[in-house]
Amino acid sequence: MKKVEIHSEFVEYGNVDELPDDDQRLVVEARLSVNKAYAPYSRFQVGAAVLLENGIVMRGNNQENASYPIGLCAERVAIFAAGANYPGVKIKAVAITAQSDLFHIDKPITPCGACRQAIAEYEHRYHGPIRMIMVGETGKVLVADSISQFLPYQFTADDLNLKRT
Ligand code: THU
Repeated sequence: MKKVEIHSEFVEYGNVDELPDDDQRLVVEARLSVNKAYAPYSRFQVGAAVLLENGIVMRGNNQENASYPIGLCAERVAIFAAGANYPGVKIKAVAITAQSDLFHIDKPITPCGACRQAIAEYEHRYHGPIRMIMVGETGKVLVADSISQFLPYQFTADDLNLKRT
């Protein structure tokens, strides 16, 4: 028997202004996207922006449905749109933000478990870390160098023993 310790390193910034310029720009994109979310049921609007290696930014936001479970999170809308429109182009970073008219969000919103798995697929596919930048309406910003920090012991294509591109 042996114990395995997993080390995960996150960086916190006091506010958006303290972020490196590229991260700030991506947060602006996520904030432009959050206003267009379709979230009439939860009234919890989420915006995501995906930065590609070619400099293009793909935005996404949550898309809810009267049949609640079929709605999709902002992160997956954005990352799937990137995969659909720019297949083979590496994803460098994802910024996530949220807002609500019901309460004030003063802390970073982190991706749900399903989105962690979806983002991990692209890290694995393109063999490079995806930087994660998370912020609420106000307050501190949470940054991680890789989605793997949110999802240790990932299930990936390797487990299927297939060669994926
Ligand atoms: N949501 C996201 O879009 N991203 C997350 O990381 C967490 C949750 C959405 C799903 C649903 O439309 C609403 O937020 C409330 O759960």
